Amino acid sequence: MRSITFLLCLLLVSQAVTADVIAVVGTGRVGGALGTEFAAQGHTVVYGSRNPTTEAVRELVARTGNGATAKFQAQAVEGADIVVLAVPGMLAGDITRNLGDLSGKIIIDPTNPLNFTAEGVSHGVPTSNGEIIQAAAPDAFVVKAFNVLSWEYMIDPESSGGPISIPLAGNDDGAKARVAAIVKSLDLHPIDLGPIDHSRWIEGMAILLIHNNFTPLPAFNFHLRELQ
Ligand SMILES: NC(=O)c1ccc[n+]([C@@H]2O[C@H](COP(=O)([O-])OP(=O)(O)OC[C@H]3O[C@@H](n4cnc5c(N)ncnc54)[C@H](OP(=O)(O)O)[C@@H]3O)[C@@H](O)[C@H]2O)c1
Repeated sequence: MRSITFLLCLLLVSQAVTADVIAVVGTGRVGGALGTEFAAQGHTVVYGSRNPTTEAVRELVARTGNGATAKFQAQAVEGADIVVLAVPGMLAGDITRNLGDLSGKIIIDPTNPLNFTAEGVSHGVPTSNGEIIQAAAPDAFVVKAFNVLSWEYMIDPESSGGPISIPLAGNDDGAKARVAAIVKSLDLHPIDLGPIDHSRWIEGMAILLIHNNFTPLPAFNFHLRELQ
C-alpha cells in the first residue's frame, strides 16, 4: 500500500516538476556537483557556506548560474523549499540543529557517517544519519538520497556504463516522490527502499563501497540497478 502511495505521488509530481529554491548546504564535492546539476534543471540554488565570500565559493556560484547565490548556512535555508545537507557525515546532526527552523521543508540527506580507523572505515553512529537528521528537524521531511553515488557520477551518470538506481528512504511519500522526480531529472533512477530507518542499510552500502579505499584490499564500485 505504501508503495502504491509513493507511485501515485511520483506520477503526480513528475508531471509537474517545479522550479524549486534549493539550499545546498556545503560547497564541497557533493554540494558543487548537485548544485550545478540542480541549476541546470532550472532550480534556483542557494549555497550555504561557512565562508560564502571566498574565491572558491564565488567561482562555484558563477559556474552554477541560473541566479545562484551563496549565504551563510542558516540564512541559505530560510527561503528554500528543499535543503540538501552536503556536509561531513559525523557533523550532520549538529549542522542540522544549527540551521534553525526547517519545518515543512524537504531535507535531502546524502551524508555518510564515516568513522576512519586504522582498519579502514566503519559506520560512525549507532543508528543512521537519516534518523539523526530527522530527529534534529522533526517537522521536516527527510529523504535519504545520493549517498551511495560518487560525486563524479552525479554530474555524468552515463560514464558509469549503465543505468544507476538511487535508493531513497523517508517517512513521507509526498517528499520522497518530489525527490524521486529530481533524481529522475538527473538521468538517475529512484528506488523507494522504505522508511527513514532503512537509511541504516543504505548508509551501510556506502561503507562497503568506501572501506576498501582505505585498506590494501582492491577498490571496487557498484551501483544498485532495478530488475527489469
Ligand atoms: N564525495 C563523494 O563522492 C560522496 C558521495 C556521496 C555522499 N557523500 C557524502 O556527502 C557528504 C559531503 O561529502 P563531500 O565529498 O562533498 O565533502 P567535502 O568535499 O569535504 O565538502 C563538505 C562541505 O561541508 C562544509 N563543511 C565542512 N566542515 C564543516 C563544518 N564543521 N560545519 C559546517 N559545514 C562544514 C564545507 O563547505 P563550506 O566550506 O562552504 O562551509 C565543505 O565544503 C559527506 O557526508 C559524504 O560522506 C560523498
